[in-house]
Amino acid sequence: QPIYLADYQPPAFLVEQVDLTFRLAPRTTRVISRIRFAPNPAAMPGQPLRLDGEDLRLISVSIDGVAQDVTPDATGLTLDAADLPDGPFTWQAEVEIAPESNTALDGLYMSNGMYCTQCEAEGFRKITFYPDRPDVMAPFRVRIESDLPVLLSNGNPAGAGKGWAEWNDPHPKPSYLFALVAGDLVATKDRFTTMDGREVALNIWVRKGDEGKTAYAMDALKRSMLWDEQVYSRAYDLDIFNIVAVDDFNMGAMENKGLNIFNSRYVLASSATATDSDFAAIERIIAHEYFHNWTGNRITCRDWFQLSLKEGLTVFRDQQFMGDMRSHAVKRIEDVLTLRARQFREDAGPLAHPVRPESYVEINNFYTATVYEKGAELIRMLRLLVGEDRYAAALDLYFARHDGQACTIEDWIAVFAEAAGRDLSQFKRWYEQAGTPQVTLVEDWADQTLTLTLRQHTSPTPGQPLKEPLLVPVAIGLVGPDGAELLPTQVLELDSPEQVFTFADLPARPVVSALRGFSAPVVLEHAQSSHERATLLGHDTDAFARFEAGRNLASDILHAMVLEGARPGPEYLEAMRLALTDDTLDPAFRALVLRLPGEDELAQSLHAAGHTPDPDAIHAARKRALHILADAMAGDLSAVIDAMATPGPYSPDARDAGRRALRLAAAALLAHADGGAKARTIFAQADNMTEQFGAWTALLASGDGAEEGAQFHRQWQDDRLVMDKWFAAQVMFANPAHAPEIAAELTRHPAFDWTNPNRFRSVIGVLGAHPAGFHRKDGAGYALVADWLIRLDGANPQAAARISTVFETWARYDETRQGLMRAELTRVLEHPALSRDMGEMVGRMLG
Ligand code: ARG
Ligand code: ZN
Repeated sequence: QPIYLADYQPPAFLVEQVDLTFRLAPRTTRVISRIRFAPNPAAMPGQPLRLDGEDLRLISVSIDGVAQDVTPDATGLTLDAADLPDGPFTWQAEVEIAPESNTALDGLYMSNGMYCTQCEAEGFRKITFYPDRPDVMAPFRVRIESDLPVLLSNGNPAGAGKGWAEWNDPHPKPSYLFALVAGDLVATKDRFTTMDGREVALNIWVRKGDEGKTAYAMDALKRSMLWDEQVYSRAYDLDIFNIVAVDDFNMGAMENKGLNIFNSRYVLASSATATDSDFAAIERIIAHEYFHNWTGNRITCRDWFQLSLKEGLTVFRDQQFMGDMRSHAVKRIEDVLTLRARQFREDAGPLAHPVRPESYVEINNFYTATVYEKGAELIRMLRLLVGEDRYAAALDLYFARHDGQACTIEDWIAVFAEAAGRDLSQFKRWYEQAGTPQVTLVEDWADQTLTLTLRQHTSPTPGQPLKEPLLVPVAIGLVGPDGAELLPTQVLELDSPEQVFTFADLPARPVVSALRGFSAPVVLEHAQSSHERATLLGHDTDAFARFEAGRNLASDILHAMVLEGARPGPEYLEAMRLALTDDTLDPAFRALVLRLPGEDELAQSLHAAGHTPDPDAIHAARKRALHILADAMAGDLSAVIDAMATPGPYSPDARDAGRRALRLAAAALLAHADGGAKARTIFAQADNMTEQFGAWTALLASGDGAEEGAQFHRQWQDDRLVMDKWFAAQVMFANPAHAPEIAAELTRHPAFDWTNPNRFRSVIGVLGAHPAGFHRKDGAGYALVADWLIRLDGANPQAAARISTVFETWARYDETRQGLMRAELTRVLEHPALSRDMGEMVGRMLG
């Protein structure tokens, strides 16, 4: 029952106005809807009206006041054109729903006694009958009746009294942006004046007791609002902006118009309970959801195939924002690491799909790294190709032309083609073609001329056996043998399978710095000596290329250690020592250079190089490398740890966070050489969660830290977000020989509430992300995860389907492991009453 992009039809009826009344009760909530429909002039006349609706108990229906006898089917109801008035008409319906028994956290549900909603992508149909599709946009008025003290919905407040509140959202919106919250909540309040003089009331609503943890989110919100005015000329458009923190939430957060709902882990932070990475994630996600107000809400998607239209763009905007707030160099490196870890992995396996998919069974399965992160990369490439000024012109045109509309990728490409006066039809293939292109760079040096031959190739992906050449911007610079820049960055446009570029009259053979800034989401094959890599690591003017050179040095060595039992040579150790001790470099950058490629990344790169990765060998080699590095640099590591202390009160800003990141990276490395002495001192003296947690996990990673873990538990057992860390750390750093048993034991802990998505992920999701533990040869990791996926699927299909992606790499491994994984996936697939979500994911993984 897949849905195809090619089958899109405009809606037969548009909605002019929606009025909703909610009488809230845990098991018997009544929803009364009054919907003004009008035939869509752009659609073929005479079509039926189709309303979506699931798990609704229908009480009554009338059309223009006349009672109707309608019989819903399993997914909604259909009204024949012959039974409808000729022109516009008013539909009124009353339904009953049971938020308390909604464990899927989709639609209207309850979390700790509070009512809340999640309607993207198709949750609104579990609230009432409606054309639940993003190209139907309407103004909403909402009345909520409940004894709970705080009653919220979208838009501006339109009156309240004892036991009721009304809201009016004048901006037409699709149903997926509807939201309602009711609970015993407290607000942190602030104000923002927009550039066009609008006074906006800002509220962050949390449960009592959490109000001391909202200051950072509020600060991030105000900075986001100002940034969108200054950089994109986008101002906020209502008199109030509400954010609500919810403990049970499937995703990160949701951009409902004027009422953003967040997973509480992306709102609540204090220096004692949140790490620097938590603060950064809060800043990013607050900004992301706020930015959606323009890129998503005012301009939305015509259908769910266009999801990247709003998500890729909004991720790109949050990346720009974070770069401006912190460091562009560090942010770019972190984004590339995430892209490779999640999106390249997805693109290389059975779940590969284009940024704009062509079909789906369950759209929630397509909120992926490809749609989000690769989608953002496509926008970054567009900006590089047309230049910053034309990028700005294209965005101005996009906002001017499409405000209030539900749009497509074609609309998006068109504003760029017009603003840049350029044919972008080849570029558009990036949206349609799945898979990560492999770009090969071969150098030739003769007669003072450097010849670069660039080739591109994309391997087949499911449903796409043949691939066309893409337009790949390859940013290149040339560096002299002494490290001086010979040729500043140029963007070569590779648009054929093979192209040659020459650079003549060079004084000496340069070192080629290719794919600067990671100018395209490709795998670059470029053979370089370790000496050349060390030159780039030491001197490249492009921070990403510098980092990448160090990364390549490390993965070359780790590959050789895994495959041939080699040892890191003195050149590598010296290059790392130089990076560690170079005080002219940003500490956050040095922390990234110090981090070795992870085990899954190594499995991915070994597999790409034609080997069958052995998770145990990779784990052992990486551990050996850590010991060798730690022994070789012990003195320097210890000095850096002392030098990077951040005296004075804790600040989450980038400068101090970078110092702590380097300090903790050094401590984690040194723990392999000093028995954990330094890490224990940091743990004992820590006055913030970053150092407390960083030091504890440094000890765990070196096979230690049991006592600290017990102390951590005693101190934090009543703080659910910190307890998620306590669960996660023990699995993440478990000895692979015991990881499945440690995870299983934690699932029996009284605080393991598996119905809470954060808690479930912190044990089962983390085990799936522990390569040597999950892939333990006897299959115990696979079996445990499969058992829990089956269990969670019965309650919360969306969350379960998402975590099932831990199996997406099965085809990389040896036959025994493949067989074990396929057997577990088959066991899941054959489970009776499996959800559509899980059925699609497992079906695609098994091929
Ligand atoms: N639009 C939200 C965001 O990007 C994600 C919501 C996804 N929810 C879902 N059930 N698929 O922040
Ligand atoms: Zn988003």
